[in-house]
Amino acid sequence: MWNQLALILVLLICVLLLGIGNALHAKPYADTEVYRGETLPGDLKFVHVIFRHGDRTPVDPYPTDPYNDLKFWSTGWGQLTNKGKMQHYELGKWLRNRYGSLLSAKYTADEIYIQSTDVDRTLMSAQSNLAGLYKPKGADVWNPNIPWQPIPVHTAPENNDYILAAKASCPTYDYEMAALEASAEFQALYSRFHDLFTYLSENSGRQVKTFTDASYLNNTLFIESLNNLKLPVWTEKVYGSEEFTYASNLAFAAMTYTRKLARLKVGPLLKDIFDRFDHKVSGNLTPDRSAWIYSAHDTTIANTLNALKLFELHSPPYAACIMMELRLDDNNTPLVSIFYKNTTAEPLPLVIPGCGVSCPLSKLRSLYQDVLPGDWHSECKRTTMMMTYEEANLSAATGILILIVACLLCASYGLMIYYRRRNYKLYTSYAQMA
Ligand SMILES: *[C@@H]1O[C@H](CO)[C@@H](O)[C@H](O)[C@H]1NC(C)=O
Ligand SMILES: *[C@@H]1O[C@H](CO)[C@@H](O)[C@H](O)[C@H]1NC(C)=O
Repeated sequence: MWNQLALILVLLICVLLLGIGNALHAKPYADTEVYRGETLPGDLKFVHVIFRHGDRTPVDPYPTDPYNDLKFWSTGWGQLTNKGKMQHYELGKWLRNRYGSLLSAKYTADEIYIQSTDVDRTLMSAQSNLAGLYKPKGADVWNPNIPWQPIPVHTAPENNDYILAAKASCPTYDYEMAALEASAEFQALYSRFHDLFTYLSENSGRQVKTFTDASYLNNTLFIESLNNLKLPVWTEKVYGSEEFTYASNLAFAAMTYTRKLARLKVGPLLKDIFDRFDHKVSGNLTPDRSAWIYSAHDTTIANTLNALKLFELHSPPYAACIMMELRLDDNNTPLVSIFYKNTTAEPLPLVIPGCGVSCPLSKLRSLYQDVLPGDWHSECKRTTMMMTYEEANLSAATGILILIVACLLCASYGLMIYYRRRNYKLYTSYAQMA
């Protein structure tokens, strides 16, 4: 009995080690020579583009920050800078060049749709990008003094936007995240970074407890150094170190660390994209567009890649861009290729695990079925029945207590009225008799 168990255990460990070995050795990029964009089989029919905004100012400086003053940041906190506008203008021109066969030179609403999170820097990045993608020509020139034309950028309030901003409330996600934070794996990670986090908290004047906290702080320092501002002496010990960079990069993996977290965080976006591909192929996409652009954040980039099992731990840089391209081959089989452009170099198609660089759409859907939500809203709901004792404790127990007290109050009030009336009645009848 024990021997058999031991054997099974040893076998399991071997399989696990083999898997880890494979994962470490798998090359995310295909061979440069073989897979240039133009040699992928089939004709390009549709592209989804997801990009991060361009260069910006710090979102929220830390309390002891010597640059915690708007005189250093003329555009305001978390705003796109001129450098950021230029990055997107350049990316727009690059997209024009790459997708010239898909998009006519003239802008039409039936060909492309642009969606942005409702944040100034993403809205402005989309607009800068479109200035490069659609420079007005001929009849579209409306003011000869500016080589630019207005193009609609659609958005939704962040707290309603569960698709792109992914900021809409999702109690199940919060619950799963709390479980991850409490897991042995994360507790071990947190104790590994305990000294770093303590040092950061003490010196920055703000509690650094999670990888996200570490990432925000690292990001402020990163932006300040990009702007040639001299960082305080205490940062020298940590900023740029492998440890701090790793901890802050982990924030990008943590948001979608489990398949369930990925499903709730970025599943709606993937589902939208896959559904749109399906509709395009079946001729049901109305209007029959050729491109869809999403203007969003580093987290959007990391979450999308991680849900697709294509993420390598790093902080997605400004104007980082994912392209999901749909081609139809000679047999009309829809094939999807995914590219990630995070440098100025030409991007190479990523190798979709278990499918390759040109993945049949139906296979893509089945490969990622686990992160495509059915009804996101109902999957996000947590009823009291589903809650653990501790979780339900606060809300349910306090609720019941308040209810009981309210009932008692009502009952005593009712009794009081009843007796008063009776006394009154007795009194009046007595008086009438008199
Ligand atoms: C953290 O800082 C490093 C440089 O030290 C930088 O490469 C990385 O992008 C930064 N991460 C974030 C989230 O800003
Ligand atoms: C670019 O992406 C690759 C693949 O995800 C990653 O390994 C690399 O660190 C990234 N580089 C930058 C500068 O973002």
